Amino acid sequence: MLEIRDLHVSYGKVDAVRGVSASAAPGRITLVLGANGAGKTTTLRAAMGLLPVRSGQVLLDGKPITGRPTHRIVRDGLVLVPEGRQVFAPLTVEENLVLGGYTTSRDKAAETMERVYEMFPILKERRNGPAGLLSGGEQQMLAFGRALMSSPRAMMLDEPSMGLAPTMVESVLGTVRTIADSGIALLMVEQNADMGLEIADDVVVVARGEVVFSGPAEQARRNTSVVRAFLGEAALGA
Ligand SMILES: Nc1ncnc2c1ncn2[C@@H]1O[C@H](COP(=O)(O)OP(=O)(O)OP(=O)(O)O)[C@@H](O)[C@H]1O
Ligand SMILES: [Mg+2]
Repeated sequence: MLEIRDLHVSYGKVDAVRGVSASAAPGRITLVLGANGAGKTTTLRAAMGLLPVRSGQVLLDGKPITGRPTHRIVRDGLVLVPEGRQVFAPLTVEENLVLGGYTTSRDKAAETMERVYEMFPILKERRNGPAGLLSGGEQQMLAFGRALMSSPRAMMLDEPSMGLAPTMVESVLGTVRTIADSGIALLMVEQNADMGLEIADDVVVVARGEVVFSGPAEQARRNTSVVRAFLGEAALGA
């Protein structure tokens, strides 16, 4: 269980995140929606120890991990799949996966790599080729695979469908659902609200650094105008 409680994050005098709370349970997907600049990426990066937290808490299975160094947080069981995928283009697919497993033992990493290859056969096919030659969708799968290499209990995804062709978006979001179904808690930022809602269990809408809506995805699916109103209002205010 991943819990972010009343998180505050600032860039100098700019209060980018002002009391955001969001959680994700094992096997479930919490979708984070919000206009450009709402503070979604800042929330994920601060939870991951990549930005200083001003106040608030991040808990993993009830244990506070707030403000720890990122490699410790990864070892604790939380991992981030960053915006833009950030695969190491000149390295091979397999080398990227090996890097993702650096916090675990060699045996465990080898075992997990087999599971990643089962989940993404295309990565196995391309394992000796440079990651930079993969398509956008394949690079996203590699980014998922690299994150899975640390055997996380919770994963945060920052806009996994960004820049992908519409047909790829569906397949990537399907993969996200499969990852959650394996028992991992997922917190996912996604611009594509309609497609994100199709696979999500819970929704949090952020506007100008604050949570303006939080509830079951089912409620948002039945009444999309509610979410749209929050997103529209956020867009106008941004
Ligand atoms: N490195 C930075 N230095 C200063 N301000 C920043 C920095 N990064 C982000 N911000 C500001 O913090 C706020 C939140 O940005 P953030 O990137 O978290 O938004 P976001 O919700 O992820 O937006 P997007 O949908 O565009 O990805 C914005 O006002 C942004 O301009
Ligand atoms: Mg962002």
